Order: sequence, then structure tokens, then C-alpha cells
Amino acid sequence: MQVAFHGSNALSSDTHLLAVAVSEGSSALDGPLAPLDAHLGGAVARLMDAGDLKGRAEDETVLYATGGGPRRIALLGVGKASEFDAERVRRFAARAVRVAERLGVASLAIHLDGFGAIEGSVLAQAGVEGAVLAAWRFTELKRPPEEERAEVGEVRFFADGETASLADGVRVGEIVARSQNLARTLQSRPGNVATPSHLAEEARRVAADCGLGITVFDEARLLQEGMHAILAVSRGSDEEARFIVLEHKGGREGEAPLVLVGKGLTFDAGGISIKPAPGMEDMKFDMSGGAAVIASMQAVAELGVMANVVGIVPSSENLLNGKAVKPGDVIRTLAGKTVEVINTDAEGRLILADALAWGARLKPAAMVDCATLTGAVVIGLGRHAAAVMSNDDALTEELRAAGERSGERCWPLPLWPEYAKQLESETADLMNVGGREGGSITAACFLQEFVGETPWAHLDIAGTAYGDGKLPYQRKGGYGFPVRLLVDWVRSRAG
Ligand code: BES
Ligand code: MN
Ligand code: ZN
Repeated sequence: MQVAFHGSNALSSDTHLLAVAVSEGSSALDGPLAPLDAHLGGAVARLMDAGDLKGRAEDETVLYATGGGPRRIALLGVGKASEFDAERVRRFAARAVRVAERLGVASLAIHLDGFGAIEGSVLAQAGVEGAVLAAWRFTELKRPPEEERAEVGEVRFFADGETASLADGVRVGEIVARSQNLARTLQSRPGNVATPSHLAEEARRVAADCGLGITVFDEARLLQEGMHAILAVSRGSDEEARFIVLEHKGGREGEAPLVLVGKGLTFDAGGISIKPAPGMEDMKFDMSGGAAVIASMQAVAELGVMANVVGIVPSSENLLNGKAVKPGDVIRTLAGKTVEVINTDAEGRLILADALAWGARLKPAAMVDCATLTGAVVIGLGRHAAAVMSNDDALTEELRAAGERSGERCWPLPLWPEYAKQLESETADLMNVGGREGGSITAACFLQEFVGETPWAHLDIAGTAYGDGKLPYQRKGGYGFPVRLLVDWVRSRAG
């Protein structure tokens, strides 16, 4: 999709559709609405007088102009000015794209005025993110519909303010949202397409396109390195595991890197501890963390972030055959710790154990992993926030703040030693499960065993990585969560 900043004069734009924000309690004579009302021969005032346009967050009206300039004007309610933030802008721009889709309009204009004091680059970035995310679809595997509707292919953005910061926001928003859409595409591909070797090939393509370093280990190499936890998960599958490392060198030579780790489990049947059939198809999304890390690395490279950043994606299937790892088996991890596998469905923490141990060897300034790790987090926090669990309170706060800014929120859970005790094993250094109680926390405690002294945080994204598509910029399926959060955090670290 094409996006560009076109200045402040939206009403001179020769477009089929212009979307304008209307806040609650505004009048037809207010700032951006006044010239619009004049353009529409007083129709905005008439609507408001009739009480049919109040600016509530769900209000939506399309008006038709005579003469030059925009042919259609979509007036979209955006609620109370006191509640304005970047997320409100993101949803507004996404709704504009949804209106265009419904009307079969392929190119539209979005007026970003009316959001008060939001800073220009933040405003433009959020607007572009909303529009680019909303326009994305996954069409690779489906016959096109009989009567082809125009897809939204171009959005022109208008806003008052400093051109340089608005244009920069457009640039950043486009890169971030296009990268998040890459994550969504990878998530959407079913398990028979998006295998571990497929993810590795996609990572190679991204690396070649945007100048990242890349290393991919196959199973022979994993064995040499001693990554027996990944190999144990992969044993029950005919598809070979892969260990993917992407590198962005935007910082000083020798500067400690930021390390991102993503669970790339391309299909989770549970292994010998097999999952029940209903809903198992969703377990193609168990590589959401890995997809987000590959996509975030693309964004970091394209943005030219001035930091050294490493992305690590351990990728495997979790199936079952005569060789599969069994409950009771004990495996030796890369870090040297032994693990008694009580439940083969707690496989994410096993592949992450080796990946985190590998990451810790890089002596990171900070390491953040994201993983669809536990069903328990969906019970605990629902679908509106990921859980963040960390050995470093400052890092927790950085991620929480990045989540707030990016509209991909996370909320802390504690890692007290009492929880870690639930993982004590009779026969090995630890068990891979700690019982039902506090399931998301004990999973994070397990991961913590493999990070050493590294400042580290774990994001459990099982409730936020995919879903029914309730927000205007989402669709049913993968959301690309937490690409916006990770990229925001990395940029905030790079200064
Ligand atoms: N991939 C699942 C977690 C998951 C559940 C993701 C629901 C998305 C939606 C993970 O590998 C898993 O199976 N976790 C188990 C852990 C349990 C065996 C301790 C779970 O949450 O049930
Ligand atoms: Mn599992
Ligand atoms: Zn899993």
C-alpha cells in the first residue's frame, strides 16, 4: 500500500473519499470542521443541529459534496478530547480504510487534524499504522471472489503542523505497519506451509532485502552445539528444526546488543501429551513470537536504528511419533541444566531455554523474549494485554511504557522464588511444568533459569497474538503482536 504526507489542505485534494475526525462536543464552527462545513454547504451544521452527529467513538456519517475537492466525506466520531492518544488515532485511520472498503474506494485521504495536542510525528505514525494495518489481507490460499472489489491501495495523509515531523511519522509508521503485516502473513500460513525451514527461508529473504546478517543452524549443527532441548521437541516430527539468528549492526562496534527472542513453534499438537482436537488448528499460531521477531528485525533495519540488535528464533514442530520425547524423559539443555519433561505440551519453554542461553552468551544490554507460552495468561489477563515477567524492574517499566505508546499493552506478573520452587524435580535440575496454579508465572520462572545475570523480560502473548479481530485495524487471525511494542522499545533504547 502507498502512503504519503500531502500537506494541510485536505479540501483541495481531488479524492473519492476524505475521512475527518469529529470529537465529542465539537461544533460545526470548530477548527477543522468549519471549512469542511462551508465545503459541504452547511451540511455538517445541519447534521449536528439535528443531533445526528455527536462525535461518539462509534458515530459514522458519509456526506457527498458538489463541485471540486473530495467527493465523499466520512465524518468519524472519535470520542472525548480528554481521552485522545495514539491508539485513538490508529483506530480512526483504520475505520477510514474500512469505510473505503465498503464503498469500493481504492484511494482515500485521511485528515489527521482534530486530535489536539498529540505531537506531529506520533500523530502521523499512528495514523499510518492504523491505515496500513487495516488494509492488510491474507489472500494467498483463497480463490478471489467473483465480483472483485477494489482493494485500498493508496492513502494520502493531511495534517496541520511541522512538515518534517509529520513526514517522518509517516515514514516510521509505514515501516512498522508493513513489518507487522509481514508477521501477520507468516502467522496466517498454515503449518504445512510455514514449517521451520520455511521460516528460515523467509528470514533469509528479509536479511538479504534489508541488509541484516543471518545464521541458520540445522539439526546437525544443533547437535554439535548441544541444543538438546530444541532437538528433544523436534524429535517427534519429520520436519527438521531450525535455529535462526538475525543481526542488525546499527550501534558501535562491540556495543552490547539488544536481543529479541521469539518462539517459532510452527505447529503445536502437544506431542505425546497430545492436545484435544477442538481448536487445535489455532496452534499454527504458535510461531507468532518468532514471526514478530523476524518482522521487528526487518523494521529495525529499515529504520536504521542506531543500536546493535540480534533476533533469535528457535523453530520446531511439536508432533508425536515413535521417537518423540516422552513424559519422564530427562534432557540436557545448552546451559547444562537437565530438565525432566513432565508434559510434552510445555514445549515452548524447552526451545526457548536453549535460545535464551544462546542469547545470554552475547552479553546483551537487555534480552526480551515473546512467546505464545501458556493458556493460563488468557485466563489471567484476557485478550487485552500480554503478561510481562522480568528480573529487572526498570526493563519491565520500559516495556510497559512502550506497550502503552504502541497500543500493544503488557502488564507485570511477579517472579517470586516461591513460584520457582514449584519446578523442583526429584531426578533432574528442574521439571518443565509447575502445576496449574500460576501457570504463566512458573513458565517464566523456568525461562529465568537460562538467562543467567542478563537483564531479561518475557512477554507471554498467548492471549494477544491472534484472535477474532475486534479492533478496526485487526482481522480475524494473526495480529503481528508485539511488533509495534518491540520496535518502539528498541527505538527508545537507541535514543
Ligand atoms: N502453545 C501453547 C500455549 C497456548 C495455549 C497458546 C493457548 C495459545 C493458546 C503451549 O505450548 C502449551 O501447550 N502450554 C501448556 C502448558 C502446560 C502443559 C503447562 C498450556 O498452557 O496448557
Ligand atoms: Mn504446547
Ligand atoms: Zn506451544
